[in-house]
Amino acid sequence: MAMAKTFLGAAVALLAMAASAQAGELSATATLKADQPGAPISRYIYGQFSEHLGAGIYDGVWVGPDSKIPNVRGIRSDVVAALKDAKVPVIRWPGGCFADEYRWRDGIGPRDKRPSRKNNWWGGSPETNAFGTHEFMDFADQVGADAYVSINVGSSDPTEMREWIEYMTSPGDDTLAQERRANGRDKPFKVPFIGIGNESWGCGGEMTPEYYANEYRRFSAFFHKNADNPAVRIGSGANASDTNWTDVVTKNAGRFMDAISLHYYTLPTGNWDKKGAATGFDKAAWGQTFSRTLKMDEILQKHIAVMDKNDPKKRIGLYVDEWGTWYDVEPGTNPGHLYQLNTLRDGVLAAANFNIFHRYTERVKMTNIAQTINVLQAMILTQGDKIVLTPTYYAYKMYVPFQDSTAIPLDVTAPEIDVAGAKIPAFNASAAKGKDGKTYVAVANMSPDDGVKLSVALGGLKAKSVSGQVMTADKMDAMNAFGAKPTVAPVPFKGGKIAGDTLTLSIPAKSVVVVALD
Ligand code: AHR
Repeated sequence: MAMAKTFLGAAVALLAMAASAQAGELSATATLKADQPGAPISRYIYGQFSEHLGAGIYDGVWVGPDSKIPNVRGIRSDVVAALKDAKVPVIRWPGGCFADEYRWRDGIGPRDKRPSRKNNWWGGSPETNAFGTHEFMDFADQVGADAYVSINVGSSDPTEMREWIEYMTSPGDDTLAQERRANGRDKPFKVPFIGIGNESWGCGGEMTPEYYANEYRRFSAFFHKNADNPAVRIGSGANASDTNWTDVVTKNAGRFMDAISLHYYTLPTGNWDKKGAATGFDKAAWGQTFSRTLKMDEILQKHIAVMDKNDPKKRIGLYVDEWGTWYDVEPGTNPGHLYQLNTLRDGVLAAANFNIFHRYTERVKMTNIAQTINVLQAMILTQGDKIVLTPTYYAYKMYVPFQDSTAIPLDVTAPEIDVAGAKIPAFNASAAKGKDGKTYVAVANMSPDDGVKLSVALGGLKAKSVSGQVMTADKMDAMNAFGAKPTVAPVPFKGGKIAGDTLTLSIPAKSVVVVALD
């Protein structure tokens, strides 16, 4: 009798689940235009940003050669292995706001002789300078990433910039190159990207766009772009929707620039005094977070329109070199260290932003999420000798096939949903032809409740098989825990079918799906 009751109970529960899955499945259509390939999707769209901030560098990357935590020349091996695995293409360093107070000479030479400074921007914490130019280059090299160095404009001068660049890149016998050799590096470092200032409208000097454009021109006169220093020169760009900044700076200084940056952070509430929690949030917060992050699309459109006017040949790249979620810090942590946890919401949000970036890669050539480790929307969190790979990390990993792919237009009609008052499209998506010749389709389902049955007309694409990965979880704020197998991580996706020239994807609620068509 007890067994019969249990069986009946289970059957009822199963029926109820099936009914609710049915009721919660939205239908949508899309058309793939495989015969109209778009712009290349640079691998640098998947870039990182690592600042001297909280435990972003110290503990996160640098533990020192004498640490018990396994390391290579002081750089933690677990972190390097994870980043390498996610094929991180570029790392921006040393800031952020930190960059405009940074003196590069503090971070070279014997470590025990380096000065200790106060990190004024980030909690006044001690900055030992143990991690400097050589250590950063070693870190980037171990990860297999290119170096993006941000130089100090706000509190420095062109001489300091010129000398740092010569120190890093000169192949000659000059004193700066010799000094680099004396510090252990014979060959010049490769520095393919150099940022000239950071947030010069704010922490980088409180400049007007006119003033910064003049400063940029002055610095660029001493930049000496040549065979030793072929770096892409990146101007300090706008905050969010401030297109006047982009307009004035590209008009007045654009001809000396190869790229200009843009920063846009997602705060659930939009209020810097009470941004919203990283975990334990409700559906309203989920909806608001996605509503705000999707503004990335119109923000990009506005800046691109301005750039198209001032740079019609599209020579200047737009680098979104800071973006991601910014929540209230974890209770009990230093407010200046910007430590926040990372949940499924962050993973889905990362994917939604990738899908947006893929639409604008004619102009958007690089993005750098803030920040790699232990800060804001991190890939990795560390705790002593343990690390945890976040849902954001796994979103990056799932999108690796999009690195250096070619965008394919995907016309989507996504139903609008109302998430506790926030009206957002249920999902967004993108497609590309990968370097391996396969066609990839990625979907970020932003609905916390509803699955999506997506029918994609494949046009002329002849594909026989579909396989891929899905990342989802039961709870909106599910996250991975230290010392445990990750639960918010990609698993094989079984919801894809191809019949004739239609691909059907059954995408679960609050998920990221990436499939390959072969
Ligand atoms: O990423 C944290 C900070 O946000 C950066 O230092 C600064 O550039 C931005 O305001």
